[in-house]
Amino acid sequence: LYEQGFTNVTLVDFAPAPIETFAERYPGFPSEHLICADFFSLSAEQYQFDWILEQTFFCAINPSRRDEYVQQMARLLKPQGKLVGLLFDTDFGREEPPFGGSKEEYQQRFQSYFDIDIMQPSYNSHPARQGSELFIKLQVK
Ligand SMILES: C[S@@+](CC[C@H](N)C(=O)[O-])C[C@H]1O[C@@H](n2cnc3c(N)ncnc32)[C@H](O)[C@@H]1O
Repeated sequence: LYEQGFTNVTLVDFAPAPIETFAERYPGFPSEHLICADFFSLSAEQYQFDWILEQTFFCAINPSRRDEYVQQMARLLKPQGKLVGLLFDTDFGREEPPFGGSKEEYQQRFQSYFDIDIMQPSYNSHPARQGSELFIKLQVK
């Protein structure tokens, strides 16, 4: 997004390494928009976003926290804010990340907090993930 010219972009990760790597790669990026913190601890009073992009974050979180993820995403979005991105539509059959899921599960989990505008097979996934991802565009209720 930053390379595409968007200026109001925030990066969140609780691991210092990706934040530091990003800061080195984009020295002009405003440091106050680099947030090294636990997503689940972000204060909705402090942070409110128009859009949040999902890419292999949901699948990195223990499935026991999925409802918490949904609620925290809804809290961090402004009214009519949108959660957009990709979710795996596959069962990896493992007890470690990436954790998979299905459209049915996601519909059930998200529908109380989001209007599901788009949740459909992604047509332009990375070749290694062709056929195993859903593109989502969800608007907070
Ligand atoms: C598979 S990576 C994806 C990162 C990025 N979305 C991308 O596509 O390059 C998952 C990232 O989520 C971060 N992460 C996992 N749980 C987190 C949490 N509770 N709060 C903040 N970051 C977290 C990890 O440190 C890791 O960098």
